[in-house]
Amino acid sequence: MCGIVAYIGFRPVLPVLQDGLKRLEYMGYDSSGIGLLDSGRLRIFKAPGKIRELEKKLENEEIKGNLGICHTRWATHGEPNEANAHPHLSAGGKIAVVHNGIIENYAVLKKKLLAEGISFASETDTEVVAHWIAKFYKGNLSQAVLKALEHVEGAFGIAVICEDEPDVLIGAKRGSPLVLGVGENESFLTSDVSTIVGHTQKIVYLEDNDVVTVSRAGFEVKNIRDKTVSREIQEVDNDFELVQKGDFPHFMLKEIFEQPEAIKNCIRGRLLLNDGNAKLAGLDKSLKELRSIDRIIITACGTSYYAAMVGEYLIEEWAGIPVEVEYASEFRYRNPIIGSNTLVFTISQSGETADTLAALKEAQNKGATVLSICNVVGSTIARTSNGGVYLHVGPEIGIASTKAFNAQVTVLSLIALLLGRQRRLSSVQGMEIVQAINSLPAAVEQALKLNDEILEIAKVYYKHTNFLYLGRHFHYPVAMEGALKLKEISYIHAEGYPAAEVKHGPIALIDANMPVVIVAPKDALFDKIVSNAREIKARGGKLIVVTTADSAPLDEFADHIIKVPSVNSALMPVITSIPLQLLAYHIAVLCGNDVDQPRNLTKSVMVE
Ligand code: M6R
Repeated sequence: MCGIVAYIGFRPVLPVLQDGLKRLEYMGYDSSGIGLLDSGRLRIFKAPGKIRELEKKLENEEIKGNLGICHTRWATHGEPNEANAHPHLSAGGKIAVVHNGIIENYAVLKKKLLAEGISFASETDTEVVAHWIAKFYKGNLSQAVLKALEHVEGAFGIAVICEDEPDVLIGAKRGSPLVLGVGENESFLTSDVSTIVGHTQKIVYLEDNDVVTVSRAGFEVKNIRDKTVSREIQEVDNDFELVQKGDFPHFMLKEIFEQPEAIKNCIRGRLLLNDGNAKLAGLDKSLKELRSIDRIIITACGTSYYAAMVGEYLIEEWAGIPVEVEYASEFRYRNPIIGSNTLVFTISQSGETADTLAALKEAQNKGATVLSICNVVGSTIARTSNGGVYLHVGPEIGIASTKAFNAQVTVLSLIALLLGRQRRLSSVQGMEIVQAINSLPAAVEQALKLNDEILEIAKVYYKHTNFLYLGRHFHYPVAMEGALKLKEISYIHAEGYPAAEVKHGPIALIDANMPVVIVAPKDALFDKIVSNAREIKARGGKLIVVTTADSAPLDEFADHIIKVPSVNSALMPVITSIPLQLLAYHIAVLCGNDVDQPRNLTKSVMVE
């Protein structure tokens, strides 16, 4: 997604911004740009493609200045070319703006500007903001931004500089994240706190409609009505400095292999062995309320949605509470019915996904308590929720989510256990589940030993253009997640399906060119899925089966058998997902793709 880093202080600004761009890179982008004051003159450098293209343009530049803004763009309005890259300039070239989000009424604003004779250099919605600020500029940038934003509809996080005000950096936000980092005689604005924690850990989370005026001496936050508001400075941890690929060729592979440790961190201190229960500090205040809920809605996007589907089965199985799972993008506009005993969960790794945030607010607006499962501490969704549980798996850098998925499922199992113990699970049953959850890191470790075997299977199939992924019950969402992993990094078409549904249509696709990945551990539905596998085989499909020991009769007719360790059947998604992550990874590498930053994708989707 688009990213912003801006700086005002005493250091040479260019290296600070270049470092910021590199740290934003993991989010995914298709062009980048820098705007800075060089010896008092506003200069802009932009390039489509990777940041190295921008660096080439900066190679022979000697910049003198310590105020600037930079941006990575993920195209929404206009293709990813140099003209559309940020920053955008006002007519006359004195004011530069970088922007995340979407200006919904940009067409109306643009029409008015065109009627006034302003010409446009790009197709973006952002350029309108630069011109609109200039329209109100009378020697005070902060006032001009405030006045301009009165006319702007939509979501934005912006950083603005002006050639005539070399000691001022302005930031503003509505519906898109923007945080201020406060250092000694220097300050930073960013859309992603991980980009600046190496410089300062004193952070101000700006709120919607805040406009912050930042100078070297300090900052002042005003609301849109021009009233000064107070915002607390918070200390954040500097986890992000540690994130390196180490010996791994890609962050994605590193994160897949980190999962035993990640799950250990996720469950640490949260399992009560003797009580057969889970203790989740973020839910402590809601414990009484949790006892009376009779319906749960979980809303999320992408991989987090598939984790939610596993959660649905877990909660229904252990706690007996009806659960509905809904895409956040649908939930937010659907006028959902939320009763007084309905509890809503949102799930988001980044905690910044626009649709999930909007769904959360819609649920709160209808009176629901909303608890969230997030990874990024201090993220907007985490801060907006009424409580929740962090994953504690450290930053996930690969755009394809892996360790977050399994941590989300693990957290959902803890929640299901806690809700179950309030209802129908005995302490003995609870103790068995606690032991099963505790056994996950070791089982994941075992499953990772299949890596070489899976690489060989990937070599056979990486040139295929279509895949089907099938599963039943707990493994239907796993199949969906496996297909998502494959398509997002290999660009190969893949569909996840409930295995028994295939005969209602998709079976027509099956022939010798269709690899079918079937997730079929030995569980209550094993015989059923064996029949589904036979139906595929009978039509010439190539069968790659993820199963457990004692997998006869699958061994007789599958083309490839991947045997993962067994754990409690409700927790098996954490194990069966591992070979699917590895398969997608190896196929993508063999296809020669940029695994950590696949085309068109972004780590957190902050537009709807
Ligand atoms: O940060 P979130 O969990 O809210 O993100 C939701 C999806 O955008 C995300 O899971 C996406 O589908 C990933 N690229 C999947 O690997």
